[in-house]
Amino acid sequence: MPERKLRAAMIGVGDITLLHYPAYRDCPDVELALLCDVDENLLARRRAEWGVTRTTTDYRAVLQDPTIDLVEVNTPHHLHKKFVLEALAAGKHVACQKPLATSLAEAEEMAAAARRGPGRFRVLENFVFYPPYVKAKELLEAGEIGEVLTIRFKLGTGLFGSRWVPLKSELWHLLEYEQGRGQAIFDDGYHKLSTAIHFLGAIEAVKAFVDCSFAYVDEPAQILWCYRDKRALGSFDIAFQPNLYTRSKYFPADERIDIVGTKGLIQLTRCTAQILDEPALILYRDGRRTLFDELETDWQASFTAGIRDFPRAIRENRDTLLTGERAVEILRFAFAIIVAGRLGREVRPAEVTDDLVREAVHG
Ligand SMILES: NC(=O)c1ccc[n+]([C@@H]2O[C@H](COP(=O)([O-])OP(=O)(O)OC[C@H]3O[C@@H](n4cnc5c(N)ncnc54)[C@H](O)[C@@H]3O)[C@@H](O)[C@H]2O)c1
Repeated sequence: MPERKLRAAMIGVGDITLLHYPAYRDCPDVELALLCDVDENLLARRRAEWGVTRTTTDYRAVLQDPTIDLVEVNTPHHLHKKFVLEALAAGKHVACQKPLATSLAEAEEMAAAARRGPGRFRVLENFVFYPPYVKAKELLEAGEIGEVLTIRFKLGTGLFGSRWVPLKSELWHLLEYEQGRGQAIFDDGYHKLSTAIHFLGAIEAVKAFVDCSFAYVDEPAQILWCYRDKRALGSFDIAFQPNLYTRSKYFPADERIDIVGTKGLIQLTRCTAQILDEPALILYRDGRRTLFDELETDWQASFTAGIRDFPRAIRENRDTLLTGERAVEILRFAFAIIVAGRLGREVRPAEVTDDLVREAVHG
């Protein structure tokens, strides 16, 4: 007899869940059974749009519901901890949107609670599931470009060319920036830092120049790092480009990655946005370019693959790529950059504490 589908609930059905819902539609492993949000108007809209008839404004009703197996936490970051810990204590499998928490202490507490179980836990970061990035990782592991020497991430954020994010979803980010956790490094940057670790491993030390050109925009910035177990050096350059038309169905974020090896090159030319019409993944070696233009390149594909991996991992009784421990590692990397930018010195992720971050941000 086929196993029954897992039943999922969302706590928080805000802007990002528009990309989560298509992953649940027609998924063989999981059905979206219950929606929770304190915003009743939004709940009514999602119920109508998605046809999920069970809704509640009280998260405790989600945790007490014995028919729910898996809880997704999609609220603003500073609210993640309470929902994650209570859902784990209620015996649910828990998926939380990145970044896991706003401090290392909170993130470590959540990761430790998740390890005790009984439910499985993961922190969704969709970039490592983006098909061109998945293929690039395969090429790296197959040694297609030899030993990696440098990896360079580039982010250009624009203001127009994509849809408008609802003001309500933007406002809480302003309060985050006041605490030093800006959009480009701590929030959206989480994806790039996650990918940097996913491709080449643990980070040893970082240096950074970080400016603030506009509101909560922590850019322009130039960030450098070295890896712990590899010779490779990494960099991440960030620029706010207010007058650049940034073509995207999602957010005006133009991302590119260049990876240089001893015998070849890999170029990843898009992710959230698509401002150039090049193939998403290009490999150069032995005097020849290979264009991977058959890959799925719509950013939605990264959410669909990432979200569907979790119920499969639960069934197969395995971790996903994005464990609580990995989330803590990414946060350490992000905080090391924030501290390095503020103090103007090299910082090792391993030395970062919440006190050091507070001192660096508030003086
Ligand atoms: N993967 C990505 O690319 C990506 C992009 C954007 C946002 N995110 C992450 O997703 C999370 C949510 O971001 P968003 O842009 O959807 O924010 P949002 O403000 O649009 O949505 C958050 C929702 O949580 C609800 N909420 C708040 N308190 C609640 C409570 N006590 N009970 C139930 N619901 C509650 C709010 O009413 C709101 O609808 C954040 O962690 C953010 O970093 C990820």
